[in-house]
Amino acid sequence: MYNHPLHQQINQAIQQQQIDIAGMDNLFFTRFIANATAIDALFHELYGKHPQQEVFFNQLINLIAESYTLRPAILKQRDEEKQTKGNWFLSNEITGMSLYVDRFCGNIKNLGSKLDYFKELGVNFLHLMPVFESPEGESDGGYAVSDFRKVDKRFGTLKDLQQLQGQMQKEGMYLMLDIVLNHTSHHHEWAKKAKAGDKRYQDYFYTYPDRSLPDQFDRTMPEIFPESSPGSFTWNEEMKKWVMTVFHNYQWDLNYTNPAVFLEMLDTIFFYANLGVDILRIDAPAFIWKQLGTSCQNLPQAHSLLRLIKQSVQVAAPGMALLGEAIVAPKEIMKYFGTGLYTAKECDFAYNATHMALQWDALATADIRVMLAAQHEILQKPYGTSWITYTRCHDDIGLGYDDYMIRNAGFEPFEHRRFLKDYYAGYYYDSPAKGALFSVNPKTNDARISGSLASLCGLEKAIEQQNEEAIEYAVRKILLMQAHSFFLGGVPMIFYGDEVGYTNDYSYLDDPGKSYDNRWMHRPVIDWDKNEKRNEAGTVEQKIFSGTRKLIEVRKKIFAVGDYKNLTWLTPHNIHIAGYLRTFEDQKFYCLFNFRDKHSYLTWFAFKQHGAVPDSLYDHWQDRKVSVGHDHEYLVMEPYQFLLLEVR
Ligand code: GLC
Repeated sequence: MYNHPLHQQINQAIQQQQIDIAGMDNLFFTRFIANATAIDALFHELYGKHPQQEVFFNQLINLIAESYTLRPAILKQRDEEKQTKGNWFLSNEITGMSLYVDRFCGNIKNLGSKLDYFKELGVNFLHLMPVFESPEGESDGGYAVSDFRKVDKRFGTLKDLQQLQGQMQKEGMYLMLDIVLNHTSHHHEWAKKAKAGDKRYQDYFYTYPDRSLPDQFDRTMPEIFPESSPGSFTWNEEMKKWVMTVFHNYQWDLNYTNPAVFLEMLDTIFFYANLGVDILRIDAPAFIWKQLGTSCQNLPQAHSLLRLIKQSVQVAAPGMALLGEAIVAPKEIMKYFGTGLYTAKECDFAYNATHMALQWDALATADIRVMLAAQHEILQKPYGTSWITYTRCHDDIGLGYDDYMIRNAGFEPFEHRRFLKDYYAGYYYDSPAKGALFSVNPKTNDARISGSLASLCGLEKAIEQQNEEAIEYAVRKILLMQAHSFFLGGVPMIFYGDEVGYTNDYSYLDDPGKSYDNRWMHRPVIDWDKNEKRNEAGTVEQKIFSGTRKLIEVRKKIFAVGDYKNLTWLTPHNIHIAGYLRTFEDQKFYCLFNFRDKHSYLTWFAFKQHGAVPDSLYDHWQDRKVSVGHDHEYLVMEPYQFLLLEVR
């Protein structure tokens, strides 16, 4: 639908910025015109009733044009390269690592000298946990930002970050940073002004003179940190007002019903884009719109906001993909990829948190049926979008899949979840795991799980008990968990330290700024002497590091494991063995995982169900041929063994 006034508005903004639409900026102009109707519709859907809607809309158009003008030439060139490639981020060649700069190597400058380490492992994509200014002691690991544009001095300077980005770019590496969209620290300039009584900035947040609205909200809003920050509002004595604080009481929720807030944050998004961010992790997008009488999560307006961000970024910085960090139920997560006209036009990525939790379910129960009961929903993801697949990250593990999935697998949901929590917290008598319950809510009996990959896989206990066999099993489990997530489709994201098997670190208990949050147990401080042991044959570090490196190598060789909506689950002939088939044109790649601590048998017939099977398969994990048996014979898998079988 042609809209002349809108076109004129865009032309004006373009003239102001002296953008060369007939020459080198022609593609930008085309993108702008192509997306203009969507931008207009989404903006007015959200802010159409605001008295100054037209002023703000004009600001939006100008902001997009200005951000493009400010985009460095080298990034514009990269945008074009990425666009020519198509969906560059679906590739099997990208493997990520997520890390805290200070805990990994001190500061950003030092990180520049660690690029060889990533190269050695095969990692070519880094997620730097929040590096912008955040008050120590009230930082939520950097997710309480007091200045969105100033790198915290603990990590270095903005210049250091720019240098690192330049270095990474030269090495062909990708960078991910966070935008903490939902809230600011109460030390942010806006919050400070609000506290000082500035009405304009009080409207940047949700502030209330008394409890009447907060009480109504609290009735329907689930608590996120019920132990350390119960409720969703905090009294501020300076303002003499209640302020909405869904997460910690020092994280003030931004009010996106105010278009000024949206524009400020979009401007910040462009600032990050123009720093050279390849994938922007949008923190907690499920929470960005609030409405009385609802859970204030996953609301349709939150999706419209994300779509508006996506369409705007698509115009000014098309090389930057968006990851929506929504850790929500399987049905809800799909909507973050966009629906209807916006299918595959909202977030490019989401975390496959459901599957991550299901892997932990399968590992504890040695039974893959719950995992399979969830797949019909997980597989709904639209083509052109991708998952971040992972086993652990800086956060807890929530068992957020649906009750019916557990029931369909034949279990009772409450008891099943209780078993999993007991198992990983180490309460269950026979459990090798050593983790802890996080955010226990006595009102709902809800809890999540903390603990490092290695400790949850039993390595910590096994080392304590000096039990060599248990150590061996823990290493197998760690690699099985990683392999399962690496080949599933999506970009694998390793959590730093897991590549050499860091167990839980309990020193957070001595730090009052961290002791209230046991997620710190699985956020290690890297001891480079320990990491050096990756070069000593026979050490646990060497086994895990070389195994992880091998998995990345194999992944890079097999095109079919890219995320092209090309995954088929194998019929569960044996409930202990998870199997999926990845295909692309002539390539066929079977991945099989025995989640049990005993030998398991899989009928060779399982392969026949997916077309003709050759006489032999090639296992890329053990670099050997595997000959295929008759239908009445079995493939025997060792405890926690996995096979990466290419049909040749
Ligand atoms: C995200 C982060 C988490 C943080 C929360 C609040 O979920 O991953 O670490 O506590 O947002 O910002």
